Amino acid sequence: MKIAVVGTGYVGLVSAACFAELGHTVIGVDIDAAKVAKLKSGKSTIYEPGLEELIVKGLKSKLLSFTTDLAATLPHVQVVFSAVATPQGEDHKADLRAVFTVAETVAKFADHDLIFVNKSTVPVGTGEKCEERMSKVLSDRGVKHRIPVVSNPEFLREGMAVSDTLMPDRIIVGINGNDHARKIMEDLYRPITRVGKPMVFMTRESAEIVKYASNAFLATKISFINMLTELCEATGGNIRDVAKGMGLDNRIGPRFLHAGIGYGGSCFPKDVKALMATAKEYHLDLSIVEATDRINTRQRQRFFEKILKSLPKKATVGIWGLSFKPKTDDMREAPSLDLIPMLIDAGHTVHAFDPEAMENAKKLLPAGLVFTQSPMDAAKGADALVLLTEWDIFRGADLGELKKAMKGKDLWDGRNIYEPQEARDAGLAYHGIGVN
Ligand SMILES: NC(=O)c1ccc[n+]([C@@H]2O[C@H](COP(=O)([O-])OP(=O)(O)OC[C@H]3O[C@@H](n4cnc5c(N)ncnc54)[C@H](O)[C@@H]3O)[C@@H](O)[C@H]2O)c1
Repeated sequence: MKIAVVGTGYVGLVSAACFAELGHTVIGVDIDAAKVAKLKSGKSTIYEPGLEELIVKGLKSKLLSFTTDLAATLPHVQVVFSAVATPQGEDHKADLRAVFTVAETVAKFADHDLIFVNKSTVPVGTGEKCEERMSKVLSDRGVKHRIPVVSNPEFLREGMAVSDTLMPDRIIVGINGNDHARKIMEDLYRPITRVGKPMVFMTRESAEIVKYASNAFLATKISFINMLTELCEATGGNIRDVAKGMGLDNRIGPRFLHAGIGYGGSCFPKDVKALMATAKEYHLDLSIVEATDRINTRQRQRFFEKILKSLPKKATVGIWGLSFKPKTDDMREAPSLDLIPMLIDAGHTVHAFDPEAMENAKKLLPAGLVFTQSPMDAAKGADALVLLTEWDIFRGADLGELKKAMKGKDLWDGRNIYEPQEARDAGLAYHGIGVN
């Protein structure tokens, strides 16, 4: 099948490369000319394990190509996926301008019937709005092309995006009564459903809600365990034991019960807030979602305030990890973006190391921040070391070496990855979250 994927970011680029890997002919479209030029040369524009290999393979087989010209791709494709960003906009609502621009451009230049598939995370009702806008453009042009709008939300995890896309837990498709669009979606995803992965059809509104509900539920699980860290700290409990004890219950499960400084990234914070905005719009009480957001903000603040309070004047602080989570260079809503400016504003010197995100971080963090070549370089001479992202290289750190490299002994473990006793045996003062 011939498809266009508009927006070659974390979702669109992975989707485009994976659809090509599955044998479809894919044109990746982006307004960012520099990005497109880099992709055409076979270089990935993001760090995502396994992605660059797929891009190179797709370009070589000619199943994958890239362009900035959406209008010119339309005559050659049957399906247009929109995977443009939907960042937090006014009043925490999702900013849908890019989605509407793509939808209207498709309607403006379509020369035959197409299927428009929305892969971006969009609030319930957006599919209908796209359809209305496209109908208007088509009728103004005086053409009768049919362009049904399908919702096909994306659930990939950054750092695991290629395998999540090729082997997803489920494919959710929202279509409002269009058998042709359903057949096309079945054909498109057959290489994945053939190996037993479920494809679930529902109304477009339900599909749009599934995405927000899933992210809000996962974020709630994180905030729930984080909420209990304060109780553990106040009473002598240990959140790791509490989470283990809870997670062994099959009805609860162990995943997303790892206490720490809370969630960040390009999805959970904005999607939780966008769901709150939808609740407000419909005058509904989604108070669990509000609490999830509030707890997450407080969790981060609580930890950072403790660090700032503990530091001597003009301290040197080592930071391990800048991206919002391991195995990605994505800096969106990363805790480092909050903590590092606070430290520098307070007159401290900060040395940081991240295996993949330093290039992106340089554009976002204050000029005074020193980037180092290795984790131990970041720890050298530090009064305190703060772990913000649980990259494997930090998990495997020799804590004795760390102690030797540092001037002070405070280890602030924002992700609860170290055994407190092991850190103490190495001569460090261990500060985790919800552990005594
Ligand atoms: N990143 C994730 O882990 C993830 C997971 C699931 C769903 N999502 C959702 O997928 C969507 C995309 O997220 P992302 O992280 O890939 O965003 P991104 O910012 O990485 O990528 C968006 C891309 O769209 C391009 N773009 C913007 N306007 C355009 C236009 N008019 N025409 C063509 N290209 C345009 C940008 O240049 C950029 O390359 C969002 O709605 C997000 O919530 C993201």
